Amino acid sequence: MTLWSGRLGGGLADEMAAFTASLGFDRQLWQVDIQGSRAHVAGLRAAGLLSDAEAEALLAALGDVGAELDADTFVFLDSDEDIHTAVERRVTELIGSTGAKLHTGRSRNDQVATDLRLWTRHAIGTLVDAVLDLATTLHEAADRAGDAYLPGYTHLQRAQPVLLSHHLRAHAWALLRDAERLADADARADSSPLGAGALAGSSLPLDPTVAARALGFSTTFHNSIDAVSDRDFVAEVLFCAALCGVHLSRMGEELVLWTSAEFGFCELDDRYSTGSSMLPQKKNPDAAELARGKAGRLIGNLTGLLATLKGLPLAYNRDLQEDKEPLFDSVAQLRGALGALRGCYATATFNTEAMAVAADDDDGVAVDLAEWLVVRGTPFRDAHHAVGVLVAQAHERGIRLRDVVAAEDGFDDEALSLFERGGAVRRRTTPGGAGPLPGTFQRAALDAAIDAARSRASSLTRATAES
Ligand code: ARG
Repeated sequence: MTLWSGRLGGGLADEMAAFTASLGFDRQLWQVDIQGSRAHVAGLRAAGLLSDAEAEALLAALGDVGAELDADTFVFLDSDEDIHTAVERRVTELIGSTGAKLHTGRSRNDQVATDLRLWTRHAIGTLVDAVLDLATTLHEAADRAGDAYLPGYTHLQRAQPVLLSHHLRAHAWALLRDAERLADADARADSSPLGAGALAGSSLPLDPTVAARALGFSTTFHNSIDAVSDRDFVAEVLFCAALCGVHLSRMGEELVLWTSAEFGFCELDDRYSTGSSMLPQKKNPDAAELARGKAGRLIGNLTGLLATLKGLPLAYNRDLQEDKEPLFDSVAQLRGALGALRGCYATATFNTEAMAVAADDDDGVAVDLAEWLVVRGTPFRDAHHAVGVLVAQAHERGIRLRDVVAAEDGFDDEALSLFERGGAVRRRTTPGGAGPLPGTFQRAALDAAIDAARSRASSLTRATAES
């Protein structure tokens, strides 16, 4: 029987039922659906629409249905179009006409919007934890890197030496922004739509703040149409996931490059590598590649939802059912990528000797040589040109830059000492720079930033746990 059998006869055609059903994916909303229904019962009771005995019976039945779903003993029927229908159907089976009061003053439109906000807020909490775990792992890998350095690249051409710790921490800062962005998204997801009804509120004396409080939302809606139509919170989380996915993709690409024989900067632990079914010698960085590959899917989920939303007239439209699969998918895929990359970084070995050899290329000192001239009064443009000419000579003659400099007037032993092994990275002394001196401050700043993000994250998790 359909929920609307009073108005429409005969039930749904099979292909219509199959096409419109969402149970296949929205059953993972069962916990938040029961949570939402419990809060709705509190609202109905506070409004005097349920007696205490009826409310207790409903709460007990919802508890029983939750236990069945938890134990996987819940029997779904073909007529259960979605999880919301299934839960209500079972409650009514258990307690009869009292169960039939559960949906008083409520529509699936405000119900599904509420459930999805609850689910999203919980997902944000778990994602922020996973993002911060990866940031912490990078921070720890940076500590283990000590004073190792490698070439920093621009245009994937060697540019200037940088500490490996500095490079690894660059990724951690991006992740901290991801965590912040997700927590910001939570602030906007933190509004309860329950009580908006189908779109216009109710004639019954329901106070939406009762359910909102019971669910841990700090606010409720000012406009019932907006409350049931708004999926900004889904789009925001999909954007946060897509951007974080882009960050992970860049890390993945870097690991792919660094583990190649051509770079030889990094070796992944066997547990985070795969072999080949044909080539016995292969050791492949599949986790890094998939972290890169998943970014396409995360971006697709975001653009797909935006395209779904763009033409919708107010208020609820069935198109909105398409919000869930991209959301569930992005959260699951991002969580997977965060965990796998965390394992890669926690167990990877960096070949710091190969990095140093690449970084000690004389050309990495070119700008220091120009700045050495600047300190002695040469305008930078002139110094840049003069050193550029020397670099060109070294390349033409196939000799080291230091040997060209040694033969040049105007450069003394002090200039030549710039080529000392590791000197170029030690000279990066400005705040936020790539050398050991600012590195100490950066380390402390990142420590503090991760701590602050963790305490913000723990209040997120608390908000969902209390609800
Ligand atoms: N499964 C639907 C969804 O996810 C539930 C809402 C259906 N509402 C309706 N008025 N047909 O959007």
